[in-house]
Amino acid sequence: MNPIEKILKKNKICPVCTAKKILNGTRLNLKEPAFENGAAPTPPMGWASWNLWGRRVTEDVIVETARAMQALHLDELGYTYVNVDDCWMSSVRDASGRLQGDLSTFPSGIRALAEKVNACGFKLGLYTSNGTYTCEDLPSSLYHEETDAETFAEWGVEYFKYDFCHNVPIPTAAPEIRALSLAAPGGAEFAVYRACEAELRGAAAVFEDRNLSGKGEYVGGLDAAAGSVVFIVSAPEAGSYTLTLEIRKHGNYEKYAEVEINGAQTHMLRVPASRGAGHDGRVQFTAVLGAGANTVLVHNPVASRMDSAAKQYRRMGLLLKEAAERRAAAEGREVRPICFSICEWGLNRPWKWGASAGNLWRTTPDIRPTWASVLGIYEWNVRLYEYASPGHFNDPDMLEVGNGSLTLEENRTHFSLWCMMAAPLILGNDLRAFLLPDGRVDRMNETLQIITNRMAISIDQDPLGRQCKRVRTDLITDVLAKPLSNRELAVCILNKSGRPRKAEALLGEIVRDPYIETPDARRYQVTDVWNNTTFVTQNAVGGEVPAHGVLLYKVKAMS
Ligand code: GLA
Repeated sequence: MNPIEKILKKNKICPVCTAKKILNGTRLNLKEPAFENGAAPTPPMGWASWNLWGRRVTEDVIVETARAMQALHLDELGYTYVNVDDCWMSSVRDASGRLQGDLSTFPSGIRALAEKVNACGFKLGLYTSNGTYTCEDLPSSLYHEETDAETFAEWGVEYFKYDFCHNVPIPTAAPEIRALSLAAPGGAEFAVYRACEAELRGAAAVFEDRNLSGKGEYVGGLDAAAGSVVFIVSAPEAGSYTLTLEIRKHGNYEKYAEVEINGAQTHMLRVPASRGAGHDGRVQFTAVLGAGANTVLVHNPVASRMDSAAKQYRRMGLLLKEAAERRAAAEGREVRPICFSICEWGLNRPWKWGASAGNLWRTTPDIRPTWASVLGIYEWNVRLYEYASPGHFNDPDMLEVGNGSLTLEENRTHFSLWCMMAAPLILGNDLRAFLLPDGRVDRMNETLQIITNRMAISIDQDPLGRQCKRVRTDLITDVLAKPLSNRELAVCILNKSGRPRKAEALLGEIVRDPYIETPDARRYQVTDVWNNTTFVTQNAVGGEVPAHGVLLYKVKAMS
């Protein structure tokens, strides 16, 4: 053994594991199939409380908003959800451990609220965090996923936004395994399988610790997806058994392992940080085994923060899906899927894994009702065009149209860009303000005209579900193109500067981009979305683009 090998052995350093850990720690290692619940074939549309109401949200605000949406006939345009964001919940769970509405601001309870929102023709959305508390430090769903998914389905919730505040990542460290033993529930152990005699894969290897009982052998090298141990265990008959993993207690940090039985059931085990005096420890759980030989694989597939977030979100998505299905079966009706909105602010590149966990994923930090915020979010989100598809969309955050310091032109631009990016259209302004004192709709209101523009909405809601691509930019003026169904196309020219600018887009050039499916033609029929005028062109569209403004066109190849 050379001196380096001696040092590595003495300090129990496994170079293969370390190299793998570093590499895996920077990327998504988990590969899961797409999350399909049928909830969002096109980007979801609705309203949410946060941008306007923040912590001041109440049951009355939600019901008044749903009534206003009904009076405005927003359902006919595709607006579907009325979402309560943070601060709907009481600080204490009820006697059965379920979340409950804030005892003073949501006194009727959430089920009754869902019924009221449904009666107006809309679906109720709710919010918690994939952490120990919400962003406003209220009770949340991490470690309560099953109960909460069940509760939401039972209440009739049909949209669920899952934030990332107070998140506790799944550790990449794995416990070190000594043995696996089997017992009948409540009975004594009848078989013990030593890890050092099991099949060791990858970096898994046998080590020795004299402080441990017996010969002191244990299997390490399971951290960060680097290795696994495979036991073949034999059960006298099919049924439930108590499985005990004997482990080496070490390290004042939490560890995580997954136990996969016969490639079907997965048990998620969290092993606490070790502070105890003894070195021998154990983790116990119940599993169903088949009669005869069973394969029990122990590993930690989580090697990065991306893996952790992807796994936690996918778990909640699947639990919501199953809960909605169970509810429908219990009530003998069709499934009302829960649209699942992932809100981890783009921290762990959710566009890489969001489609296997939910219907939409936030790509950026929170939006603000300012031009700088809208533009900053657009600049980031526009680059992610390849990740959008029916059922799975980038979410550049809820709309601020009608809020804060945004001008009329900026509001129109904000809405147009979100439509071009196939973004969820979740309004965040005061919809009650569009009703005149006598109950009639204030049709002249320019903000209302923006959010009800049918042609802009049809661009967002096109069934192809594709996001626009930035096909040209000189940094101040961008040209965006979004493929639409029926071989149509949406084109948007954006002027980011504070001065009007002349700009044009050449359709003949755009349709040659492989991302765009509209055929090359000699003439195109073009509708200017905001002017509502139609004309025919051979190639160019454009003109003077207002400061912070857009020209937005729907284009059809003629011949
Ligand atoms: C985070 C989210 C916001 C909103 C708040 C609520 O900041 O990103 O969209 O839900 O929490 O506390």
